[in-house]
Amino acid sequence: MSIKIGDTLPEGTLMEYIEVEGEGCSVGPNAFKVSDLTAGKKVIFFGLPGAFTPGCSNFHLPGFVKHFDDFKARGVDAIYCLSVNDAFVMGAWARDQKTAGKVRLLADGSGAFTKQLGLELDLTTKGMGIRSQRYAMLVDKGVVKQLNIDASGKIEASGAETLLKQLS
Ligand code: BEZ
Repeated sequence: MSIKIGDTLPEGTLMEYIEVEGEGCSVGPNAFKVSDLTAGKKVIFFGLPGAFTPGCSNFHLPGFVKHFDDFKARGVDAIYCLSVNDAFVMGAWARDQKTAGKVRLLADGSGAFTKQLGLELDLTTKGMGIRSQRYAMLVDKGVVKQLNIDASGKIEASGAETLLKQLS
């Protein structure tokens, strides 16, 4: 069963590649607890199948980067992008996509958190193993308030524009 509106996000540990040392973080992969990422905040989590894949690089991630200020104006404190990739790949993708200060790219390298959400996507036939479905969630103080999942290969429900309209 997958996560639904009204559920509290499960606890998990996600990794972020930090570029600049500070605030208790060192350069390289740093671990963050989901409970700390959500405590007292209204945040967006969106998941996608993989860093550097065409749909994710050309549409899904850029949509949230582009609309960062619009989300902020609607009371969103942080935007997190999750993928079943390692933190080094996510760090390189963050540099490539110039996400700094807008979207934090979080690695769920083993897919454990994605599995807890029940939002895995089996891309074994594409040589990619178990990845993440495309989804976008609005999470207020750890509780899921909005959940948009794209069942097919499309980027519609899980795109930035859909969530933005729901927040307007
Ligand atoms: C994409 O273009 O986003 C994509 C390509 C292959 C597998 C999954 C996603």
